Amino acid sequence: MLRHRLSDPIKRDYQEIEFAKYVAIHKGQTEPTDPDFFTKLKEEYYAAHSSIEQSKLNKVWGLIAPKISENRGLAEFTNDYQGHLSDYFFPWLINVFRSPATALEMSYGAGPDLNEDWHDDILSTEDPIVPFIKDDPAFVYNRERQLYVADLASSVVDLAAGREDLAKIVDFGSGRLTWIRNHGFIPSKDRVEIYAFDQDPSIKPDQLFSSDPEELGIRFKHGNFTAQFNNPDCRNADLIILGGVVSYIPAAKFIDGIVPAIYQLLNDVGVFFFDLQIDCPCYQHSMDILSWPKFDLPASTNEAIARVEEWRKNLWSSGIKFSAEYTTDTYNELPSGIMVTMQKVT
Ligand SMILES: C[S@@+](CC[C@H](N)C(=O)[O-])C[C@H]1O[C@@H](n2cnc3c(N)ncnc32)[C@H](O)[C@@H]1O
Repeated sequence: MLRHRLSDPIKRDYQEIEFAKYVAIHKGQTEPTDPDFFTKLKEEYYAAHSSIEQSKLNKVWGLIAPKISENRGLAEFTNDYQGHLSDYFFPWLINVFRSPATALEMSYGAGPDLNEDWHDDILSTEDPIVPFIKDDPAFVYNRERQLYVADLASSVVDLAAGREDLAKIVDFGSGRLTWIRNHGFIPSKDRVEIYAFDQDPSIKPDQLFSSDPEELGIRFKHGNFTAQFNNPDCRNADLIILGGVVSYIPAAKFIDGIVPAIYQLLNDVGVFFFDLQIDCPCYQHSMDILSWPKFDLPASTNEAIARVEEWRKNLWSSGIKFSAEYTTDTYNELPSGIMVTMQKVT
């Protein structure tokens, strides 16, 4: 499998999507989106999908219409990108606020259509959402992060080869285990135990892999991962992953509750991976136009690193001694995240 899918050329023209324009339109909005514009989008949506059952179209439009009405930035974005003519854009938008891990599948050109049928091959279609999939920095960064985690996982598994016990990887807020499925990491129950936890009930572990996940050494459990800190399955881990999760967590909870628990769960050579999103136009757009939760994001790569260094310093004085390495999102012209690996200093 190609490890750098979709990322050739690696650096894309960041200015291609005018994120700031849509945010400014919404911020300046004082009344609902003009009825004429709203009606135009609605009529074009129904006309473009006339072959689809009316009740299905109504269901999707019913969820999207209030957002288009209250957010002229979203209406303009939809119009410019022909999202209303796409089979996948509105279903994706609905997932952005219902199931972020499912929405992230769109980074790889996968997602549901208006009939709720799943497609893995959106990129091979003429659908208007295709350029957005290739260029959106959040998708570009997601692909880089998943590849990075797949590489980390491969290296910890290789390092454990020949050891009496198997390598152990714990993925907290695992979503749909994209790093396993899309970047050539080959799980094998003879080499690695993978424990995955996610609170999103719409994730169906049995549908993620072509064979039984347990046969691949993967055990997935629904629930809040913070309830797993005393679970013996998570102890003595070679790698603990929090991918795309930390920006959701209040800093105090992360530093005082989560990092110390992870420190206890790692073995002596274990690696803790997490990442932080950076406050850049694409995420301002995601938060303002695409209904992402409102995160407290650092303003730059340097500020993100300084934030983590401050956490690390404070933890050090309470006996949680981690080293840290930082990798910046390099696929985007303007970095949209930093990836952090920590290891115990013994
Ligand atoms: C942006 S998605 C990333 C998913 C996955 N880690 C990835 O990289 O594709 C964040 C995921 O974290 C999960 N999540 C956030 N907080 C959680 C918690 N406290 N317990 C379990 N899952 C959590 C969400 O349900 C969601 O699936």
